[in-house]
Amino acid sequence: MSARGTEFSEEHAVLVGKFERALTGEGAGRAACLALRRVICHYYRHQGRQMAWRETNDPYRIFVSEVMLQQTGVERVRQKYAEFIEKFPDFPALSAAEQRDVLAAWQGLGYNRRALAIHRSAQIVMETFGGALPRTVENLESLPGIGQATASSIAAFTFNDPTVFIETNVRRVFIHFFFRGREGVADAEILPLVAETLDPEHPREFYWGVMDYGTMLKKRYPNPNRRSASYARQSRFEGSDRQVRGRVLKVLLSEGPMNTADLLAGLEVDDREKGEIILQKMVAEGFVAEESGKYRLR
Ligand code: ADE
Repeated sequence: MSARGTEFSEEHAVLVGKFERALTGEGAGRAACLALRRVICHYYRHQGRQMAWRETNDPYRIFVSEVMLQQTGVERVRQKYAEFIEKFPDFPALSAAEQRDVLAAWQGLGYNRRALAIHRSAQIVMETFGGALPRTVENLESLPGIGQATASSIAAFTFNDPTVFIETNVRRVFIHFFFRGREGVADAEILPLVAETLDPEHPREFYWGVMDYGTMLKKRYPNPNRRSASYARQSRFEGSDRQVRGRVLKVLLSEGPMNTADLLAGLEVDDREKGEIILQKMVAEGFVAEESGKYRLR
């Protein structure tokens, strides 16, 4: 390890030691939270990762990145984000785009419902909010596909608001430090600790640090999130409806409108009825349209 790496590790160990002592001392809660804040801030200062969306204050760019990062890993997002921003650089461009072009740009990120939601959100921002991303968590949450946690993360990263939220890395870090040996940790138990640990002056850097720390923990330890009451493993992709839905989009994006028989043949589903049910669902959800026996992207 380099001299600087060694220095970082030693300092880090000292700060973690202080956290451990705070945890067992008088007034454990608050003192431990402050000690953890120092651990996180120190980690971010020395080991924080660079990401394009951390180098901007542009609400649109941060909005796009947070929606992508909801269910897709950082490395995959890095590449798709750059392409997406180039194609759709702002809310006016995204809101005016054809749905199929947005879906095409989303390919590779998975969970394609988010593409429809982000497209619709851009239209709502233009129509209802005068082209400016709303500032409050409540208004952000009114946008499609934006739940409480994403609304809060957008407010923190865009406006530097000290919002309190839990996402997978936040959960991992807090379970690791505060719930050793515990199973079934509820988010309601974690939330007050996040509120106390959060650096109210620097929420952006604090949450970036927590996310980077959580990613490091994931590489080093068995996933602490298994001990969360909210833990749900991502279901198997192979053979899933999600896989078939992905194929529908891929085939229609590359081949254009298609009749039912050809489309079903291209999907490689073993059960025709299952394929038809999935197609009907996708029509109802607005992914595809059905017209005179043909399916097409909207
Ligand atoms: N940096 C900013 N937002 C992030 C996120 N949601 N996940 C990881 N790193 C981030």
